[in-house]
Amino acid sequence: MAKPKSRYVCQACGSVSSRWQGQCPDCAEWNTLVQESADVSSIFAARHNLQGGGRTVALVGLDSPVALPERLPSGIAEFDRAIGSGIVAGSAMLVGGDPGIGKSTLLLQVAARLAAAGQRVVYVSGEESAEQVRLRAVRLGLGPAPVQLAAATSVRDILTTVGQGEPPALLVIDSIQTMHSDLIEGAPGTVSQVRASAQELVRFAKERGTALILVGHVTKDGSIAGPRVLEHMVDTVLSFEGERSHQYRILRAIKNRFGGTDEIGVFAMEGAGLAEVPNPSALFLTQRAEPVSGTSIFPAIEGTRPVLVEIQALTVRLASGATPRRAAVGWDSGRLAMVLAVLEARCGLSFATAEVYLNVAGGYRLADPAADLAVAAALVSSLAERPVPSSCVVLGEIALSGEIRPVAHAGLRLKEAAKLGFERAWAPAAVAADGISLARFDNLKALVDQILGR
Ligand code: TYD
Ligand code: MG
Repeated sequence: MAKPKSRYVCQACGSVSSRWQGQCPDCAEWNTLVQESADVSSIFAARHNLQGGGRTVALVGLDSPVALPERLPSGIAEFDRAIGSGIVAGSAMLVGGDPGIGKSTLLLQVAARLAAAGQRVVYVSGEESAEQVRLRAVRLGLGPAPVQLAAATSVRDILTTVGQGEPPALLVIDSIQTMHSDLIEGAPGTVSQVRASAQELVRFAKERGTALILVGHVTKDGSIAGPRVLEHMVDTVLSFEGERSHQYRILRAIKNRFGGTDEIGVFAMEGAGLAEVPNPSALFLTQRAEPVSGTSIFPAIEGTRPVLVEIQALTVRLASGATPRRAAVGWDSGRLAMVLAVLEARCGLSFATAEVYLNVAGGYRLADPAADLAVAAALVSSLAERPVPSSCVVLGEIALSGEIRPVAHAGLRLKEAAKLGFERAWAPAAVAADGISLARFDNLKALVDQILGR
């Protein structure tokens, strides 16, 4: 019989090597390779002997009748919105986010709401003692909610416990990286342990109809640790984002087998936990109390994350014949020159005797050509001293011909803008969107006329 082979699994990216190396050949991280003994190939071969002995599986038609999944609304509207109108019974959900962002707080609040509504809810913390969780619950005013609480890290113990009696409607595991399965060797937090623990928990959830929520830590590069293996195993992946130093938090679905991934939930971290922010436009309205000329709002996108940013332009007429300056911060100066050239050549505006300064507010950097139109709007607005309406976002790419080209993810950007309280958008001709009133432009001249009120 062949000697069982060792394999070395990178704890950062999950790649498998046959020998130990100081540096992972795939992701180039140092000291991340850990020996794992499982001889996966022989177990697989024994279970899946293709020569026969298997059972036949049922084949059904795509059109056979199905029942819509049963959903449990948590009662926290922003949470339900992000996941698509409620937690699906028997589904597995992964909630990722930076340490200290408020994952435990959010899930304790969700657990308490469901428990108060009469569901059996079990909250297992592998990071804090039951005492600590209770203290937090009292501080959040959730003390009286009948959540069943445990501090445990053994998956076997947890499943034995929750398997007794009626299966819980919701099982929260905080966090999956602290869980330990005795079916497999290795310390908690290693890729194989995270995967094995999650597999057992997910199997329990599917078999018993319990909704499972796993908390997952996020690594430096932003992916949920225990690399991407977890994302494949669960039905829904949520990311809880925000700056720890700021108050606001956004809950966003990255993957959702039971709904869309373009809705966000917005929360504010307050003294008594996370408060819903049903109208997040308030976060931005203070900045735009009075419309000023020379600014426009661009709905940017960061990976899958829409971010609304303010573009500021200042044009200063020079009396003498000195060469005017052009300076751009947070935006490519070559692209600024191009937008200026198109405005001069195609729209009859003259910047020849004006200094031009462009700034993307908040130290943000933009590399997206979809911001061309917002840059042009800010420039024209500054030159003409006519403000762009403060409830308006501007997006579109400008071609050298002066035509306005469509942009990627226009629907998503506008949906986010609408969610954040913007009422109008100046957009390329092909764009369609609900919830926001669109003015469509097929060339830059038309936009200039709009700003100049011609
Ligand atoms: P927590 O839920 O423990 O974060 P995570 O589980 O994602 O690591 O939240 C931790 C932070 O939230 C903590 O640093 C303080 C802040 N916080 C409040 O501001 N108000 C509160 O009521 C609570 C419970 C936490
Ligand atoms: Mg926590």
